[in-house]
Amino acid sequence: MAELATYEGAATIEKVASLCRRRGFVYPSSDIYGGLGSAYDYGHYGVLLKQNVKAAWQRSLAQERDDVVLLDSTIILNPKVWVASGHVGGFSDPLIDCRTCKQRFRADHIATAQCGKRPSKPPGGTPDCDLTEAREFNLMFETYLGPMHETADKVYLRPETAQGIFINFKNVTSSLRVKPPFGIAQIGKSFRNEITPGNFLFRTREFEQMEMEFFVPPGEAQHWFEFWVNARRQWYLDLGLRESHLRVRAHDVDELSHYSSGTSDLEYLFPIGWSELEGIANRGDFDLRAHAEHSGTKLEWIGQDERYVPHVIEPAAGADRAALSFLVDAYDEEEVGGEPRVVLRFHPRLAPVKVAVLPLVGKDEGLVGKARPLYEDLRRAMSAEYDDSASIGKRYRRQDEIGTPWALTIDHQTLEDDTVTIRDRDSLAQERIPIAGARELLLDRLEQPWHPRP
Ligand code: GAP
Repeated sequence: MAELATYEGAATIEKVASLCRRRGFVYPSSDIYGGLGSAYDYGHYGVLLKQNVKAAWQRSLAQERDDVVLLDSTIILNPKVWVASGHVGGFSDPLIDCRTCKQRFRADHIATAQCGKRPSKPPGGTPDCDLTEAREFNLMFETYLGPMHETADKVYLRPETAQGIFINFKNVTSSLRVKPPFGIAQIGKSFRNEITPGNFLFRTREFEQMEMEFFVPPGEAQHWFEFWVNARRQWYLDLGLRESHLRVRAHDVDELSHYSSGTSDLEYLFPIGWSELEGIANRGDFDLRAHAEHSGTKLEWIGQDERYVPHVIEPAAGADRAALSFLVDAYDEEEVGGEPRVVLRFHPRLAPVKVAVLPLVGKDEGLVGKARPLYEDLRRAMSAEYDDSASIGKRYRRQDEIGTPWALTIDHQTLEDDTVTIRDRDSLAQERIPIAGARELLLDRLEQPWHPRP
């Protein structure tokens, strides 16, 4: 299949951000105070969506495998961790300031950046531009432990969840039944003082990561690297991302991080172009050796007749960036019966709400008497919503815009034969099903494979 050059579909980052705000997925943070650059708060549906993304990740890694265990380490670690990991010395981006327009640019992105003056040119492109030399700018947020702001108390908000895993290697191997190859997976917030955040949830300064460190015998590293590149690619496809918009890109040698002997990015074709969704790195024994050296604690695997420092394969994903890719991929516009329809065609397992229960006439006691018990039964098993306001058409549109895959409508026939119509978000097909089997039918559909539109 020839690779696409530009995003195909109705989505733009702006349209998705606007829908997210209008429908209660994501709001600009600190809105009433004028916002805070590139920071976002998740509303009700956004919380549910991101929870579903994280749950799907955890399910595929920990629940459906027997060689991965979980961890939740602290955000603030002993600062020596970041010296050993190389972050204090080297987690920086080259920064250039313009003394005239006061804009800041990443030196490695300057060719594609826009100068602050109008008409916009690349920085340095106008006679007024007055650029500084590039300086290294460390991306770690600093804070202080305790009341005294003294150098000795300086700590960092973690810029990745990975290091919390490496420093727990000994705890995990001595307390749980694990043996290489095995993984430790962690979901949690990370913080980077990005010079150029932007594109909505794509790059923010506070974000959530989903990382796994998979510890393997050194001779098996290449095998497991390839395994995890394929497995992680398949995870996105199984959750509905269009295959035409997903690719694997191996890093060139000069792109590799200091710890990596091989990295492949999974890239998604966002409306802003092909961009990193997740990185899978072969970190070798860099981290365990570095922490062993700096802490004085041996970090190795000791088996019956073997002893070695495992190598590490790391699939490192972002929960917010993954959620953005699912939002963008799901976003669609079409015309139905002469009316425009915006719909989020989420995989049902990712959809914030699985089913809406809609009495055809909200004030009809007979219909409500059937609809409420059905809703209360369904919500025990899945995220469900009851809506008896506005016309049925408006209620369908609202559910389409939050991506609810199924709507159950209770009408006058329900009073006669205890059946309801089930409306499919994507095909708009409606069929009658008995109320008694509705819950099992939906639970069964949630387990079925699902395919995005062609
Ligand atoms: N431990 C390796 C590591 O952190 P990374 O490529 O820097 O690797 C992994 O980050 C993933 O975390 C990225 O692929 C992306 O999904 C997410 N991520 C990184 N920086 C981010 C940011 N500023 N905003 C949102 N997501 C980010």
